[in-house]
Parts: sequence; structure tokens; C-alpha cells
Amino acid sequence: MAIDSKVQDAINKQINHEMTAAYNYLAMVVYFEQINLAGFAFWMRKQHEEELEHASKLFQYLLDRGGKIELDTIPKPSSDFGSVAEVFETALKMEQANTASINEVYALAKQVNDYATLSHLQWFLDEQVEEEKTMDETLGLVRFAGDDKSALLTLNNQMAKRPDEGDAAG
Ligand code: FEO
Repeated sequence: MAIDSKVQDAINKQINHEMTAAYNYLAMVVYFEQINLAGFAFWMRKQHEEELEHASKLFQYLLDRGGKIELDTIPKPSSDFGSVAEVFETALKMEQANTASINEVYALAKQVNDYATLSHLQWFLDEQVEEEKTMDETLGLVRFAGDDKSALLTLNNQMAKRPDEGDAAG
């Protein structure tokens, strides 16, 4: 069954959101590299790669449904952060906005009884719960560390151990 054009547009928009998130996380890598927090930079690089995978999943799905792909402009991200906490505040807000965006695509697919899209989006809904939780928890730890540089360095070492998505320890 041909994909509804409104659902197609919404998925195209979502591909752009995921690519925008990927680019913003890459800008966060730049920030962490600048302040020599290599563990945080490594963690954010993984996050960047995950977002590219999310975009790729949606891209492939739309192709599989015979939809038309329309790639849009990715806005310029900022690497200009005042603190580590500010990075994670921004990341948490981005993930919350992304959840809202996926919910919109879901609602649209529901309106037109597009069960295949609903099924595909289920993975993204579950993933968003994880992503919001991770950003929220990390923000909590960074705030807890506060101005304590040695606590921040301990955290930096932990961040360097982030496994790939899907690994048992992940
Ligand atoms: Fe692709 Fe962070 O959600």
C-alpha cells in the first residue's frame, strides 16, 4: 500500500530532525575536545553515531515503502557552551523535543491507519524513553559534581566506557 503523503512528509521531517540532532551532538564533541574532556567527547561521538543510525533507519523505511525522500537543510549547530551541565541541559531539551516530534508522526500514522509505520515507530518511542532517561541521569551526575574538578574527571573516565548500542552492558 502506497504511503500517505502526509506521513511521508512527516517521516522526511523526522529524518531531518535526527540528522540535526546528529550534527548538534557532533558540535558537543567539539566543545568537549576543546576543554580536554576526552571521555565526554567519546560519549558524545557515540551519541552522534546513534543519531545517524536513527536517520538511516527512517531513510531505509521510507525507501522500503516506496516513498519519496526529500533531504532538507541542517541548521548550523553551536559549540558555544558555558559548562558541561549546559551541554546536557541542551541535550535533554533536544531529546524531549524529538520525542514530541516522533509522537506527532505516530499520531499522523494512526489517523490514516498506517499500521506499518506505527510498528516501525514503536522502536523509536522505546528509544526515546532511554535517551531522555540517559540525558536526565547524566545531567544529574554533572550537577552533583558541580565545581568539583576531580569528580568531573572521574565522570569523564566513566563516560569513556560507553558501549555501542545493543551491547549487553549498554
Ligand atoms: Fe534519535 Fe536522540 O533521538
